[in-house]
Amino acid sequence: MAHLPISSIRVGKIDDVQELIKSKPNTVPERFIREANERGVLVSHKTHLHHHIPVVDLSKLSKPHTDDDFLFEILKLSQACEDWGFFQVINHGIEVGVVEDIEKVAKEFFEMPLEEKKKYPMEPGTVQGYGQAFIFSEDQKLDWCNMFALGVHPPSIRNPKLWPSKPARFSENLEGYSKEIRKLCKRLLKYIAISLDLKEERFEEMFGEAVQAVRMNYYPPCSRPDLVMGLSPHSDGSALTVLQQSKNSRVGLQILKDNTWVPVLPLPNALVINIGDTIEVLTNGKYKSVEHRAVTNRERERLTIVTFYAPNYEVKIEPMGELVDDETNPCKYRSYNHGDYSYHYVSNKLQGKKSLDFAKILN
Ligand code: OGA
Ligand code: NI
Repeated sequence: MAHLPISSIRVGKIDDVQELIKSKPNTVPERFIREANERGVLVSHKTHLHHHIPVVDLSKLSKPHTDDDFLFEILKLSQACEDWGFFQVINHGIEVGVVEDIEKVAKEFFEMPLEEKKKYPMEPGTVQGYGQAFIFSEDQKLDWCNMFALGVHPPSIRNPKLWPSKPARFSENLEGYSKEIRKLCKRLLKYIAISLDLKEERFEEMFGEAVQAVRMNYYPPCSRPDLVMGLSPHSDGSALTVLQQSKNSRVGLQILKDNTWVPVLPLPNALVINIGDTIEVLTNGKYKSVEHRAVTNRERERLTIVTFYAPNYEVKIEPMGELVDDETNPCKYRSYNHGDYSYHYVSNKLQGKKSLDFAKILN
């Protein structure tokens, strides 16, 4: 992943949120308190019962392509990508053990003493390691979250010094998990291609050796969830993102739909998938990379394991010819190199969908 000149960035003192609540459980330092219009109030689930993100059943997509179940589920998928930019997948075929094992080591990692975690620091301006990413100034507000991020694939983006030796099975479990998630992403991209009337291999062929990174987000409970933000609003720079929420997780993830923050209710054994900026550009805006954020709660910590899947850095990205029509659907994004977008993304703070301005053709 890209690096910025470290010396030029001053981030001020960044409190480790887990340590903060150990020493002062009822205090929220100024640097975490958001302006009134930026606060993350958790909306009641009940007001949104009619407003769930779609659920796609992958077992139906394993059926022959002429089967009604298959065709119906592809339709659901295409509507999810167009109208929501988010969906949950069930019956995804990843063994429960694999999902549980990654959650276990991630939890154990965050529960280690700070000195141990500090052996894998996220340096200012970099995005791998333990700490807070996307901080670029001393007065920038902080998220109520500790993060641990690693480049996974291809091996050239790995920083082996940041792969922890403890917990003992961390690396092994992450390798196994990442292989399964990679297969899932390839499968989903096939279905997404079919849903766009493209040939199945369209994305796979274009992406080359895809880039895969993981970020584990640990949100400790907060005495004043109404004042803070777990993770600032943003869209993902990836092509696809796969988000796993810890078992029995509280609601935390919210997506912006028709100007309302809609909570994503955790379903047992489901994974949350979202369309990243790259697919939005490739589909000329037909499939949306939707703004989302995470909020905290008073009672319980929340852990998410998030995989970002993207084209190789060398790949040229631009709206696909099949989805552009000069008369009826003119091209909305310029062409660029994915590595340049990736660098742009990680060198700016998270701010809604602002990062996509990089690619927009303004008229
Ligand atoms: C992310 C993200 C949401 C969550 O890591 O990009 O959107 O609930 N996470 O952790
Ligand atoms: Ni995200």
